[in-house]
Amino acid sequence: MPVLDRERETEQGGGDALPKLPVPALGDTLDLYLRTLRPLLTEEQYQETLKIVTTFGAPGGLGELLQRRLLERSENRANWVYDYWLNDMYLANRMALPINSSPVMVFPPQHFRAPIDSLRFAAHLISGMLEYKSLLDTRSLPLDYARGQLAGTPLCMEQYYRLFTSYRLPGPQRDTLVAQQSSVMPEPEHIIVACRNQFFVMDVVINFRRLNERDLLTQLDRISKMADSEEERLPPIGLLTSDGRTEWAESRRVLMKESTNRDALDMIERCLCLVCLDQSSGLDLTDTSRAKLMLHGGGGAKNGGNRWYDKPMQFVIGSDGCCGVVCEHSAFEGIVLVQCTEYLLKYMRGSPSKLVRAASVSELPAPRRLRWKCTPEIHKHLSSSEDKLNRQVRNLDMDVHKFHEYGKEFIKKQKMSPDAYIQVALQLAYYKCHGRLVSTYESASIRRFQEGRVENIRSATAEALGFVRAMADLKSSDTEKMERLRAAINAQTKYTVLAITGKAIDNHLLGLREIAQDLKLEKPEIFKDTAFLISNQFILSTSQVPTTVDMFCCYGPVVPDGYGACYNPQSDHVLFCVSSFRDSPQTCSEEFVQILERGLLEMRDLCVRHNADTNGNPSGKADERPSGNYKEETLERPVQSQAPRMVVGTPSALGDVQRPPPQVSVSKAAAKSQVDIQTQTTSQGGSKERKI
Ligand code: COA
Repeated sequence: MPVLDRERETEQGGGDALPKLPVPALGDTLDLYLRTLRPLLTEEQYQETLKIVTTFGAPGGLGELLQRRLLERSENRANWVYDYWLNDMYLANRMALPINSSPVMVFPPQHFRAPIDSLRFAAHLISGMLEYKSLLDTRSLPLDYARGQLAGTPLCMEQYYRLFTSYRLPGPQRDTLVAQQSSVMPEPEHIIVACRNQFFVMDVVINFRRLNERDLLTQLDRISKMADSEEERLPPIGLLTSDGRTEWAESRRVLMKESTNRDALDMIERCLCLVCLDQSSGLDLTDTSRAKLMLHGGGGAKNGGNRWYDKPMQFVIGSDGCCGVVCEHSAFEGIVLVQCTEYLLKYMRGSPSKLVRAASVSELPAPRRLRWKCTPEIHKHLSSSEDKLNRQVRNLDMDVHKFHEYGKEFIKKQKMSPDAYIQVALQLAYYKCHGRLVSTYESASIRRFQEGRVENIRSATAEALGFVRAMADLKSSDTEKMERLRAAINAQTKYTVLAITGKAIDNHLLGLREIAQDLKLEKPEIFKDTAFLISNQFILSTSQVPTTVDMFCCYGPVVPDGYGACYNPQSDHVLFCVSSFRDSPQTCSEEFVQILERGLLEMRDLCVRHNADTNGNPSGKADERPSGNYKEETLERPVQSQAPRMVVGTPSALGDVQRPPPQVSVSKAAAKSQVDIQTQTTSQGGSKERKI
């Protein structure tokens, strides 16, 4: 398969009609960079960094040289940052894909009464997938448009065209994103069905005819029976794909020595997608346990080997009703995943399956089991991969929590941006737990531009720090807290607008760093500075992923002492999916969620009291003064995000250099009481009783 040719895709993806991503002015980026560092550094550290940044940006200095080269690069490419970004964010990242990189969508639990029900569900889903794929093949997918200030702006569609055509090939130093090239005579299309850790080739187009749902069910039924046969069972090769990327590249190299394995790998790499028919996990299917199972499959003893993590789309259908999608992230963002998945679920709801049973006799060629030749070396790799996956499974600390008290509507009534409000609440929660703010990533779509992927909204603003400190200060009045809340939300909203219009700093700094490397220059001081490492250590990795059907998205943290915080705001509630690692003494998802909830209640009560004071209006409705950049905001809808994963430096590499400002380090047990803000009574303003 060729390396992804984006220029050709852009032609068809509506991309080339869009403006190019601008290169921000050097001075603007350096100013904003310094501003974002303020809340994260001590004064001493800040002054040190100020010198480094000033030298870098000085007239005639290195910054100007790199900026010129970046501008030249931008003239010759559709998107000057795309390759740098893809490499930095995904392909050069050596971490294992499950939990660390691959986001998942979790469906509501299905109630299958008999094994055939889950196969019927799978056939229905595949049928929907084929419908969707034909929209892609005929380029009939409607163009997405942005909303808000730049309403009507078309968005780049090219990510959609990678859903069923790309593959992340592991490499010893760097992976490659490859794509199938469409040819005049299309190849027969197949999917790979994983069942009991075995992989089966299931053609979905035979003799130029797309299989109907009954045929699909027949084939799935045959596969499920073939997988039951214990004599034919082969080792769980899929486990290898759950390992670190370098380790998997090495195992793959060994596998490739055998022609049988080469054939099997080729079939998997060229398939449309995987359908993983999972065995029952034996667990109680709560939101949290389903999220975990989707993220890691439950390890080697459960369905951890029933996966192939390099493939962008893996539909998981558990016989116990635990269903969802696991996505390899390098090819597209969460919005595309959500859009596609929502299409499928709506398709399934809109055309209920009428299938009763699979055909008892079928003329269709039987699905083919993929064979593997496993040397002792491969067995060694397998057991090492399994051990690591099992460790990951034990380490994941996940809490999916529905915050019932209010949702977007209440926040909008305060004339505030719901997204900015939730981001500020996340800052408050972290501050309550740890007594400081930390570098935070919120993904913002830049699909307004050709080949646009994401930019970072750095939510740990100085204004957010002002607000959380006011909330912790017993002497601070409601008026002051309210002013600080509005300032924090305004700052967050302004940053959002900068990010979605391509004027934020992360992509630009990355471009400057990478172009220096392309020019074979020594790494500039600004990128060796401890402050740069701290600012790229995203302890809070956050993302808004709203859905319009009953399902949710989640993902893992991106650093060992961090949180992944994915939220799904709805009109009257917000779903939070918080993840962290058990072996970090700094984090605990359940405590974080409890403290987040308390903070959200305090913020609501503050608004309600303030409205009552200023308006004599106890209803919680705000006065008419607008807050935030509502008019200036650019909103993209439906826009779902998956937190990008960027890890610059490891904690051990940072060692004791990461010296946070006034820091209160707390143990998990102490976290709850740490910097706890006085609980506001909820008696005013008609607030509801707490449900938790
Ligand atoms: N007063 C009243 N209402 C307001 C308001 C204010 N001050 N500010 C915003 N609103 C409204 C909006 O009109 C919108 O209304 P709607 O629900 O009727 O559409 C709603 O509140 C939500 O707006 P807001 O919360 O401000 O922003 P958003 O939901 O558009 O999302 C981002 C902001 C950053 C998440 C979004 O711009 C984005 O980029 N998302 C994509 C991220 C992405 O692609 N990630 C992929 C990574 S995998």
